[in-house]
Amino acid sequence: MQKLDKLYEGKAKKLYATDDPDVLWVEYMNQATAGNGAKKAQIEGKGELNNQITSVIFDLLKARGIDSHFVKRISDTEQLVRKMDMYPLEIIMRNTAAGSFAKRYGVEEGTALNKPILEFCVKSDELGDPFINDDGIVALGIASEEELDEISRQARAVNDALKDIFSKIDVQLVDFKIEEGKTGDGRILLADEITPDTCRLWDLKDGSGQIEHLDKDLFRRDLGNIIPAYEEIYGRLVKLAETEGVERAE
Ligand code: ADP
Ligand code: TMP
Repeated sequence: MQKLDKLYEGKAKKLYATDDPDVLWVEYMNQATAGNGAKKAQIEGKGELNNQITSVIFDLLKARGIDSHFVKRISDTEQLVRKMDMYPLEIIMRNTAAGSFAKRYGVEEGTALNKPILEFCVKSDELGDPFINDDGIVALGIASEEELDEISRQARAVNDALKDIFSKIDVQLVDFKIEEGKTGDGRILLADEITPDTCRLWDLKDGSGQIEHLDKDLFRRDLGNIIPAYEEIYGRLVKLAETEGVERAE
């Protein structure tokens, strides 16, 4: 596979074309951002860890019947993915109150929710990723009713599978963000990344009752170095994949 022109540089990844029109070459960068880019830092080792973490998660999901854009990991910081036409949506699932949800409704972080909550935001840095509901998505033509049903079904299935994965490595899956896209032949699929940048992950091993963050809140809230936390998540996921005999695409 040949790496061709750079198509896009975002806050965390660069996308390149390849000699296969259906495949993109993704490079994970060391840049960390928070507050839509208001806070920025270079963190040595982050690109490599996120590339490895999202790869093993996509493999663990595949073993649970959930397909994604992931083709294979090709180096420490790079992977190949299926090229998708992305829905400009941040698809958020919440299992426990935290972050903007806790703030919006005045609920204490860590409060259990009676059911998982599926939320959508329009992916737009200029607008600050505003919240949108199902009717808004269809009314603005972001997705059709049928597409939105499929996106929502997949988001709930991803949540069920991720809850299973993280519970097996003693981590509480508090919430996460995914993105979905459409392949050239019209198939809706999970895309982008699933990493501690895009999930809230609390350690259940500690047992102190204090929240032990293993995710980007360490950076967002100036609570400490993310690298040991990301290494811990990666180490536990790899062990799980080995125990389960999951086929690795690399
Ligand atoms: P951002 O754009 O939010 O700064 P990134 O730096 O992570 O985020 O950039 C990755 C970009 O690639 C995102 O805009 C995302 O929507 C897009 N993307 C993710 N997966 C695919 C895919 N399979 N095909 C095309 N675009 C993708
Ligand atoms: P929030 O509580 O700030 O709305 O975030 C909910 C989850 O979504 C959390 O796990 C972080 C993730 N997320 C992203 O990955 N990217 C984003 O731009 C936002 C707003 C949230």
